Parts: sequence; structure tokens; C-alpha cells
Amino acid sequence: MSDNQVLIFDTTLRDGEQSPGATMTHDEKLEIASMLDDMGVDIIEAGFPIASEGDFAAVSEIAKNSVNSRICGLARANFADIDRCWEAIKHAKQNRIHTFIGTSPLHRAIPNLTMDEMADKIHQTVSHARNLCDNVQWSPMDATRTEWDYLCRVIEIAIKAGATTINIPDTVGYTAPAESADLIKRLIETVPGADEVIFATHCHNDLGMATANSLAAVAGGARQIECTINGLGERAGNTALEEVVMALRTRHDIMPWTTGIDTTKIMAISRRVSTVSGFLVQPNKAIVGKNAFAHESGIHQDGMLKNRENFEIMRPEDVGLSGTSLPLGKHSGRAALRDKLEQLGFEVGDNQLKDIFVRFKELADRKKEVFDDDIIALVRADSGEDEDDRLQLVSMKVVCGTGGPAESTIEMEVDGKELSAAAEGDGPVDATFKAIRQIHPNTARLQLYQVSAVTEGTDAQATVSVRLEEDGVIATGQSANTDTVVASAKAYIHALNRLLVRRDKVGEGADAKEVSYKDLA
Ligand code: KIV
Ligand code: ZN
Repeated sequence: MSDNQVLIFDTTLRDGEQSPGATMTHDEKLEIASMLDDMGVDIIEAGFPIASEGDFAAVSEIAKNSVNSRICGLARANFADIDRCWEAIKHAKQNRIHTFIGTSPLHRAIPNLTMDEMADKIHQTVSHARNLCDNVQWSPMDATRTEWDYLCRVIEIAIKAGATTINIPDTVGYTAPAESADLIKRLIETVPGADEVIFATHCHNDLGMATANSLAAVAGGARQIECTINGLGERAGNTALEEVVMALRTRHDIMPWTTGIDTTKIMAISRRVSTVSGFLVQPNKAIVGKNAFAHESGIHQDGMLKNRENFEIMRPEDVGLSGTSLPLGKHSGRAALRDKLEQLGFEVGDNQLKDIFVRFKELADRKKEVFDDDIIALVRADSGEDEDDRLQLVSMKVVCGTGGPAESTIEMEVDGKELSAAAEGDGPVDATFKAIRQIHPNTARLQLYQVSAVTEGTDAQATVSVRLEEDGVIATGQSANTDTVVASAKAYIHALNRLLVRRDKVGEGADAKEVSYKDLA
């Protein structure tokens, strides 16, 4: 590895997926891992194998399928976690065990260990991991709030025990750029053996400084950035992969470090992660937001026409946005649709194309012009309905107006049986959800109901996201339709189907012993 190379460690499937409501299915995790591998991510943290049978299965399969990336699994500081992690990752061509323990005073209090006891545990667990795997990452969780002397002491122990990467997590997003750079620099200068390992930075975005803190850590000597697509992650999220990668590329003049990422794959994976996690990307999000390359004000458009560099520091093509954006219409054929999907970064199989084409034609009948964002919404909605789903919407009719409550009549198939119900509500969506609940009684609490217009105009499609919570299990659903109430019904049913899948797994015992990585007892 050259001195100016920075490794990209993606943790979308572990720290990102841990974010409440961002749960992905097994197949979705495999698909995202394959996209990460393909775009040049050096290390993929694929999950936390001991957390559940589902996590273990996903990490094992990602390990078996990996081509270029090193596959990493997370383990707490105990032998059972580490052994389980190794079982899951051992089939990868290149693998890594990532073991961690909270070292700050607050985190030390959780397992109630003295400083010496914790130091001992670190020595034993890192040595154990290293006996299994020749690539071991160790993290002192909450490093940025750990006492300096103790931090140096435990890092030295981990290096002596065989750790090959030392990760410095800013677990609660507390640090700031100058401090982040200084901390890494001083650790490298002070800790014996530091020059034999790679230092990594892992920042959370609670104060909106994750990207700046990660880049500052690189200036201080870190050579691995831990990040997620779209900055997905608990609370305010993690460092966004697309931001650090594009910052290093665009400002190479002042940050002379390079990554191995093929940046033209950024938009496609950003869209896919947004779809499968149910976390929509805010329109003004750097790099991947819908408006990141839109120049709407007159003065900007004029400037852009004269010279695009007036207002553009990156080219849309560099992140995988197609240069042209010609809308499709009802006369466009299947080849044009396939072409457009490819331009937008979607690889669809023949069956999926057939299905999307049918819905594209339906949409084109209702809408004069079908824009790129409409197509993206169609692909997203495709993941919202599956013929294997236990709950299916057959038809719906809604009556609403100014004269009284709205009424919704719903027909659904539940496990192959047709059922119908009618309900009144405070508006059409409320009435529709009530009718669905009559057909499929449940206690799921609606945590989020979000509608956004895909394009402009009164015939625009609406994308609806719904997040439900039942007995601690969270599931999200999405759908798009030119009729907002239909999209709402479908998104609600999609989320209910996902809840059923997760509940069935718990019933079988698969996820019953799910543990949290913060559960250090
Ligand atoms: O934020 C954090 O401290 C983590 C550790 C598990 C590395 O995600
Ligand atoms: Zn984290």
C-alpha cells in the first residue's frame, strides 16, 4: 500500500443497518455487498455474526461471494463472539475480525471492569482473534472520550497482541476536526509499535462534523476511513462514503490521498441503499441529493451555460449521474426502458424488466412524460411488492371531500384468501390504514409516514415511506404511485409484510437471541 493510499472500510451493512428501521433482508444485504465489492471498497464490514442467525447467514454468504473486498465481521470482546465471527468470515478470500470494547470511563462502567481487568481482557481477546485470523482490527469504543494515558496503554496492548488495524471511534460524534487530526497524530507518535499498524478513523455525525473529522484524521496519519453509503447509521449517522471519497478526489490539491473507489458507481448504490433501508436521501444532501447537481436559479443557469465550472466543482458523470435526461413516453419500448435503467445504474434481470415495463406503461398512460426520477421510483416500488408476500392489495376505493369523514373500502388477499373491509377516518389515508387493520389486525405503531413528490406537476408520482414498530421489531415499507392514497396503502402493506417476515423468524427462534453490540454484559 502506497503512503498516500487511504483504505475505504464500508460499514453500511453493520453500523448502517443497526440504525432503527434500516433493517435489510438477506438478499438485499447480499446485493449491497456485491455493489460495494464492485465499486472498489477495500473492506466491507458485513455484519455482527453473533447477533442473530440471520446476521450470521448474511455475513457467511457475503464472505463466500466476495471477489475483491476483504470481508470483516464485528465481535465484542469475548471468545464466543470472536469464534462466531471467524466461522462466518473464514470462507472469504480475504477476511478480518473486528473486535472492540468501550474504553471511556462511561463505557468501562457497563461491564464494571477496572482499568487493569479491561487491559487484560483486551490482551486475551485480541490474541485469540489473531490466532484465528491474520488480519485483526481492534477498536477502543468511545476513544475520543477515553483518558489519553489509558488510550495509549490499551492500544499498545492490542498491537502487542497482534492487532493489524487500530480503529479510533468517535462513537458519539463528539470530536472536532483539529482535535481529530491531533489525536491520531499524537497516538502514532506516542504508542510503541504504532508504525507497524494502520490507524483507522470511525466518526459519527451528531454535530455534523463526521466528514470533516474523518478527513482531518487522515491528515493526522489515519489510512483507513470507516463510512457508510448515504451516511446511514444510528442517530445522525456515520461518515458518508460518497462525501469523503469525492472530497479527496475533488480537493486532491490540498488533500493528496487517493482511494480505490470507482466514483461512477456512487449514485447507483446510493439509490439502492436508500430503497432497501427505507431512508430517503434529503434533496440537498452533498453528492447524492436530488439537488446536488441541479442549478435552478436563473443566474446559476446562465453561468452554467457559459462555463459549467462556474458553479460545478464535480461533474455529474463522475458520480454516475447520466448527462442526458430525456424523458420517456408511452411510445417508448422495452429497449429504451432497459437503456434508461442502465444509464441510471440499475441492473435488472429479464423478469424484473418485464414487471417494471408493465408498470412503466401504466404510468405512461397516466403521465405524459416519464422522467428519470419516475423510473427510479418504479424500480423502488418493485422492491415493495412481491408475489410471495402474505398480504396483497387487490383493490381499493376511497371517498373523501369536505362533507364528513373519508371512507375507504379495501380488498386484500391474506395468505391467499380474499378479504374486504370498509372504514371511516380522518382523511383518506387514515381511513385506508384503518380498513387494512380490520383485515389484518395488528398492534404495529406507525413511527413514520412520509410522502414526497417524485417530479413536478399535478400528475407527479408520490413516494410514500412507512415505518412500523411492533414489540421492538421495526420494519419500513415504500411505494410510489400517481395516487398518493394508493401509494400509502401499498407502503403500509409492504411494511406489514416485512414485519411478518421478521416476526416469523423470531417465532422459529432465528432472531430470538438477537443481541445489541452495546449489550456488553
Ligand atoms: O461507533 C462505534 O464505536 C462503533 C464501534 C463498534 C467501532 O461502531
Ligand atoms: Zn459506529
